[in-house]
Amino acid sequence: MAEFTGRDVYQAEFDPRAYLEYFQFGAGTLGDEALEFYLKQLCKTFAAGRLKGDTLLDLASGPTIHQFLSACESFGSIVASDPVDRNRQEIEMWLKKKPGAFDWAPIVKHVCELEGNRDKWAEKEAKVRKTVQQVLYCDVLQSNPLAPVTLPQVDCVLAVECLEAACKDLSSMQAALKNISSLLKLGGTLVLVGILGCSFYMVGSRKFSSLVLTEKNLRDALHATGFAVVEYEAEPRFDKDMYDACDFTSKFCLLARKEKEA
Ligand SMILES: C[S@@+](CC[C@H](N)C(=O)[O-])C[C@H]1O[C@@H](n2cnc3c(N)ncnc32)[C@H](O)[C@@H]1O
Repeated sequence: MAEFTGRDVYQAEFDPRAYLEYFQFGAGTLGDEALEFYLKQLCKTFAAGRLKGDTLLDLASGPTIHQFLSACESFGSIVASDPVDRNRQEIEMWLKKKPGAFDWAPIVKHVCELEGNRDKWAEKEAKVRKTVQQVLYCDVLQSNPLAPVTLPQVDCVLAVECLEAACKDLSSMQAALKNISSLLKLGGTLVLVGILGCSFYMVGSRKFSSLVLTEKNLRDALHATGFAVVEYEAEPRFDKDMYDACDFTSKFCLLARKEKEA
């Protein structure tokens, strides 16, 4: 098992450019498998208009924007967040169309195709840029993950591969869910997307730890923190190679409603 890599290790050693290699879509990297599943699930969750509201908060955004592509159709504003300065800068570079920003166009086109509108990808990029209004610091292990900023409670919290990366063990995951719950309105929805059975992943040559999750661990921790799981979907890993890059066993997406204060 990889040694736990906490927030300070992320800040010092997480290289956004190396991580973005997983997003060279269609290149046959391991990223494709998880990403295709995530995009399909997020399209189903958001683009169909099933989940709507004023504000969506995305936790542990990393340097990526794929998670906003369907969500921007259903929420008036999106707040991105991550503890790593270089990750937030990478997102800002893309939002501001700075030279050298990562090219998300192939992934944007793929999402437009999933949504039945392949030709609208330029409009989609413009919509994401308009909807993502803030990129904040966050640490889900703090009681207010956005401190020193305080946001009014939001309608929806999204977290893609967040708990796996941020939490050392199951009790810290439960604490993180309690912290996350404080950011969400009563009746609001937490959308968790990620991987099960994963103990590590590589970013360039650096190994990052991952909390090994199971469906039961997730359901127990959510129940204990006042959430009701309303949807759960998982698919087993089909890639049989590249276990040296990441050892996940399946991908999951779940929707949980906040039923009470944690
Ligand atoms: C595997 S990346 C996921 C990035 C992005 N959500 C995606 O879909 O690709 C894990 C992210 O968790 C963030 N992270 C690590 N510790 C954290 C913490 N304590 N609170 C919030 N985010 C954290 C890292 O900075 C990193 O961006």
